[in-house]
Amino acid sequence: MKTIGYGKANGKIILMGEHAVVYGEPAIAFPFLATNINATIHPCDSFQLHCAYYDGSLEGAPETLNSIKVLINQLQKDFPIGPLSLNIESTIPAERGMGSSAAVAVAITRAFFDLLDQSLSQEKLLAYVEQAERIAHGNPSGIDAAATSGHDPMYFTKGHPFNFFPLNIDAFLVVADTGVKGQTREAVKDVSNLVSGDPGQEIMRHIHLLGALSKEAKKAISENQVQRLADIMNEAQQHLKKLTVSNQLLDTLIQTALSAGALGAKLTGGGRGGCMIALTNTKKEAQVVCEALEKNGAVSTWIQGLGVHTYA
Ligand code: MEV
Repeated sequence: MKTIGYGKANGKIILMGEHAVVYGEPAIAFPFLATNINATIHPCDSFQLHCAYYDGSLEGAPETLNSIKVLINQLQKDFPIGPLSLNIESTIPAERGMGSSAAVAVAITRAFFDLLDQSLSQEKLLAYVEQAERIAHGNPSGIDAAATSGHDPMYFTKGHPFNFFPLNIDAFLVVADTGVKGQTREAVKDVSNLVSGDPGQEIMRHIHLLGALSKEAKKAISENQVQRLADIMNEAQQHLKKLTVSNQLLDTLIQTALSAGALGAKLTGGGRGGCMIALTNTKKEAQVVCEALEKNGAVSTWIQGLGVHTYA
């Protein structure tokens, strides 16, 4: 065993297919390298957790950190190495649809296995992260764990092998944080209630259409059709609204981005707060959109190139 273990993970962005992915529809996500998380673990006299939101005993950590407690308990059960001190440093905004809960579980699991000086297969990593995500999200599809632990864009279908593909499109993506905590757990649960209380299958129709849009988006990306991808994003946002996972703030920022010249815009991740994304042809246009979003309430914005160079 080493004296200290290190683990890393990235934020993630879902380009298409959030919520529908829980029902077996495909989604497109990529690691968002502009944000990341680092965990370090070392043996200690008692279990300790140090992060931006909390500094103290693991046992006394607030309920919002329950998924970390569950993960540490499981790791300790499988490898009883005694009390540990955990230090987490993150630039992924928490509860904003960027996968922070999955990323923290990925980074901790990696740090734990690094401390053990044992190799960790992707399969084993994802199994641990899923346990933590069940606490954080209720019924996770696994897309957040996959995208925050990997380095490549992926076309993801629950329960299927990962299908990596290059984001080879001459466009830029603006990511904007509403500054309001998203409510992924509640949103996933509410969609599930809508599905089960909908004998006419209207909700499932929106879910299937979202899946079909993910397929079309993959084609638009591979054929470098920027306007087509933008139209698909706009269409997806309408279906997400029908699933009740958008809200006034997201709708306002989406409208702001479109009025400022974005070709397409939608929410990303769990919704009901969190982040939105917008597509532009050029970086300059993306900067104009960012300025408009910040003037209208976005607390942070990022620009991500979607050309093949980005993930080369
Ligand atoms: C959350 O980032 C994405 C959701 O589709 C939930 C999930 O897939 O686990 C809303």
